[in-house]
Order: sequence, then structure tokens, then C-alpha cells
Amino acid sequence: MTLIAHVSDTHFDDGDGGRSAERAERVLSYLERLRRPVDAVLVTGDVADHGRASEYSAATVLRRLGVPLLQTPGNHDSRPEFRRYVAAAGAGPVDQIARVGDLVFALCDSSIPGRDDGWLADETLAWLDDVLAEGAPSLVCFHHPPVKIGHPAADRVRQFGAARLAEVIARHPNVLALLCGHVHSATASVFAGVPVLSAPGVASTLVLPWEGDGGLDRSAPPALAFHLYDAGRLTTFFVVPG
Ligand SMILES: [Fe+2]
Ligand SMILES: [Fe+2]
Repeated sequence: MTLIAHVSDTHFDDGDGGRSAERAERVLSYLERLRRPVDAVLVTGDVADHGRASEYSAATVLRRLGVPLLQTPGNHDSRPEFRRYVAAAGAGPVDQIARVGDLVFALCDSSIPGRDDGWLADETLAWLDDVLAEGAPSLVCFHHPPVKIGHPAADRVRQFGAARLAEVIARHPNVLALLCGHVHSATASVFAGVPVLSAPGVASTLVLPWEGDGGLDRSAPPALAFHLYDAGRLTTFFVVPG
């Protein structure tokens, strides 16, 4: 049994008077109080709000749980600063592989420097194809969902070029799910025959078009997802820490 905490869009901001740090602290202290510790924490992007080195320094608080910390960059992250923060080698997209229990996590960089929408580079798709060819039960993680969620502002900055990703996913029946962030909302949909799940936001929550103006609610409490992998099945829970 493998238990993953999926946290997204922390938006650590060194100019917000401590607000983002306080919200991350609420999630961290909740995770520390669990009766059974999680096996890893996944952060699907927008770790920092402005991509500043000082914001990544603040984000290192996430390491204090002492479990593997798996992170992908988002549109608010700076690729060079994020690469330093996660100590990744190379240049170009920051793609990383992580193994937790029986699971393989393909941590893909869907960011496009200087833009808010997303795209998986050809080299990322080729890398992903190789990772999935190992045949292990796999979770494909990136910031930008590759599907429309029915929210105009979010859909304008989704991951484009997703037909290319669908071809890769279709070749590998070992993909359990796609795990995303970016939309600051707990959503579940289907892409290329597998679940696509987005974690709620820590920094703020998306106002749905049928709720209000479709902006971001900064007063809603931070929330997260748990993914429980057991006997070949993935079950996802969406939680608002009390
Ligand atoms: Fe975000
Ligand atoms: Fe984002």
C-alpha cells in the first residue's frame, strides 16, 4: 500500500506578508498529524509565485516531512531557479523520474518559459515514452491538465498539443492516472482512457463559472488530495485539512 499526498500551487510568495507560508504550514502540520505518514509528497507546480530564489528557499519547508518530495514546475515557476531547487541536471525541460514503492512517477515539465499555457516538448514526450516502457505501474505528473475543464479562464491556459500525449499514453496500459495542478480545483476527468486528476490549490481556490465570477477565492481554505495505491488500484481522496 502506497499513500501519496498531492499538494499543488503553493505559490510561495516573498511579498505577501507570510500568507502563502502560513497556508503551506496548515497543510504541512496536518500531514504531520496523520496517524499513518504518507510515503511521498507530490507538488504539481506553481511552487513559487514569481520564480524567485527566495521563494524556493521558503519552499524548502516542504522537506521537513522527511519523505520523498516529487515536484514539477508550473507557469509561475522559473525554470532555472526550479532546476536549482530540485537539483536537476541538464538544460531544457525539467523532467524527472521518481520511484516510490512499486510506483513510478514521471514528473514532466509542461511549462513554457514566459507563458501561462502548457506544452510537452518533443524531448519530454520521447523521455516519457521510455519511462513508461519500463512497464511499472506509473503516474504521469505535470502542472497543466491536458483537458478542458469547462472553465473559460482555465481552459485558455491548459496544456495544448495533447493529441501527441494521448498517443504516448495509449501505448502504455501501465499508466494509472495523470496527476495535475494549475486549475486550483479538485477535478476528475478522463484523458486517453485514463483518469486525469487535478489537486486543489493551497494558495487559492478556483471559483467555478456557475458559482460566481470565475476568479480565484483566496479566502477558501487550502486543500489537497491523497492517492492511495493498493492491490493495483488507485483511489483518490480530496481533503480540506481541519
Ligand atoms: Fe497556480
Ligand atoms: Fe499554474
